[in-house]
Amino acid sequence: MPFLLRKLKTGFLFYQVCIISIGGLSLYSMSMTLRSFQIEEFSGECPKDVDSLFGKMINESPKPFFSRIDTVSEEVFKWWKPIQGSKENFTYYKMTVEKTFQMIPPTLEVFKPSTDSCRTCAVVGNSGHLLGSRYGRLIDFHDVVIRMNRGITKGYETDVGTKTTHRVMYPESATQVDNTTHLLFFPYKIRDYEWLRKVMNPENANKRISQGVKVTYLSPAFMKYVYDVWLGKKGGYGSTGFMTVILSLVICDEVNVFGFGADGDGNWSHYFEKFRFKGLGTGLHSGKREYMTYEHLHEAKIIRFFKKL
Ligand code: C5P
Repeated sequence: MPFLLRKLKTGFLFYQVCIISIGGLSLYSMSMTLRSFQIEEFSGECPKDVDSLFGKMINESPKPFFSRIDTVSEEVFKWWKPIQGSKENFTYYKMTVEKTFQMIPPTLEVFKPSTDSCRTCAVVGNSGHLLGSRYGRLIDFHDVVIRMNRGITKGYETDVGTKTTHRVMYPESATQVDNTTHLLFFPYKIRDYEWLRKVMNPENANKRISQGVKVTYLSPAFMKYVYDVWLGKKGGYGSTGFMTVILSLVICDEVNVFGFGADGDGNWSHYFEKFRFKGLGTGLHSGKREYMTYEHLHEAKIIRFFKKL
């Protein structure tokens, strides 16, 4: 990790020098210089920094992906059950997961095997901050580009890029997924498993998820870990975006974060639509705490957080 970040820091110095010495250039051309510089530096070793407090927190992660139902304890189930109001008991839950795994077996290998010493991941949230950012090229330069929910690229390529290797999704925010994309399914309630079986049923004419899409399920133990360790058991459970950032710390070598942050009214508005739900804020989630965590991770050089320009 320090390798790229050191380089990126140098990039910032370079950027600042540019500002002083080429005062006549427009802001636009300077920001393009910064981006090109960063892109050239995406290569090489990036060992994880595990010495810091954050390193210890990352190391506390349970296995993030759900492989077999018998890996879920009743204690974890009790924490998970009310987060989105599941009513059914542990036995019903286990039966539902079992049935879903039989029809759509979990893919535990989330990335293609790689000989690369450094797997770079871009985590792209859906914030309206992306509009006008021109981060597209930089995002696409990563080995792995994880988008979430309805975060589209068509029409927004300059700001958000074109590449999607993985998509994090849950039913209420679902979009089309074709088989060039790996689905990281985040189940928040028992019905979510039933939904997945329905939309991936080959007989379902309106299927949103193409046949052959690889599906990996986030484990409820990981959701609880994010809440306990990263949110200090305060407020609501982690948002989809927050859990994806923490997941990336566990599974990627290099994590760069784009498209996170509420708008001026404190709402989690999106880059791809006009926001309709004024006053919704950040929903159940502690948007401020999550945002501060990205800032702290950035300061500690664990991630690079690309904020609103
Ligand atoms: O709104 P949606 O859940 O699709 O967005 C995905 C994630 O992006 C959220 O869970 C949240 O973590 C993040 N987000 C954000 N700021 C926004 C919109 C979304 O940080 N304005």
